[in-house]
Amino acid sequence: MSTRCTIVQIYLIQSNFNVCACSLLQVLECYIISVDFFLLPLLSAVWIMLPAYLPNPVAALFGGGTPIDLGRNFSDGKRVFGDGKTIRGLCMGILAGIGIGLVQIWITGSYGLDYLPRHTYLSITLLATGALLGDLCKSFFKRRFGKERGTKWPFADQYDLVAGALILLLVVDPSWIYANMTLPAFIIILILTPVLHRIVNIIGYYIGVKEVPW
Ligand code: CTP
Ligand code: MG
Repeated sequence: MSTRCTIVQIYLIQSNFNVCACSLLQVLECYIISVDFFLLPLLSAVWIMLPAYLPNPVAALFGGGTPIDLGRNFSDGKRVFGDGKTIRGLCMGILAGIGIGLVQIWITGSYGLDYLPRHTYLSITLLATGALLGDLCKSFFKRRFGKERGTKWPFADQYDLVAGALILLLVVDPSWIYANMTLPAFIIILILTPVLHRIVNIIGYYIGVKEVPW
């Protein structure tokens, strides 16, 4: 009776061990899958877009003064860009985007983070400039559609910086895009950008640098 009991116990311990080992492997597999398919593309997406994400909030923080269109109207009698697009905002925003990009180049160079996209002086400049050119372009069309400064324009308000930054990069330095952008990272950029945009604008509204929370 006791021998049978021991055999049954050993069997149970063994099968428990098998189940444990199996689920451990599954957890490990899940971990590797989530790192490969989610975490790395997420990290890459943020790393690629940082020089493009920073210019807008910096323009909102430090912008103001002379508008880029110098107060002039377009042929339709409406402002070319409007008072929301200023020379100071544009310059400070671009400089901030390039600044964060330089820090990223230094970090990847110093710590050998090979799994992250490798920014270059050109890529960070194009991303920072493109983000605010996209924003400027959006404002130009916003005025043409008769929308006042600060009014909501869903999709355009959120994706102007992505379109501007990535199109400029694609036109001037396509090889950088092919070498560093993956489809999962691109999809994450499309999902993440409106979320970040909203969060940053709500913060901007509550600290008083934005007149509207969008
Ligand atoms: N800003 C700036 N210069 C820029 C872009 C932005 O000075 N080139 C500042 C302005 O103070 C602007 C604020 O950042 O009001 C928020 O930017 P944004 O939401 O893009 O401008 P809006 O005021 O909403 O104008 P628009 O309707 O044209 O988008
Ligand atoms: Mg706006």
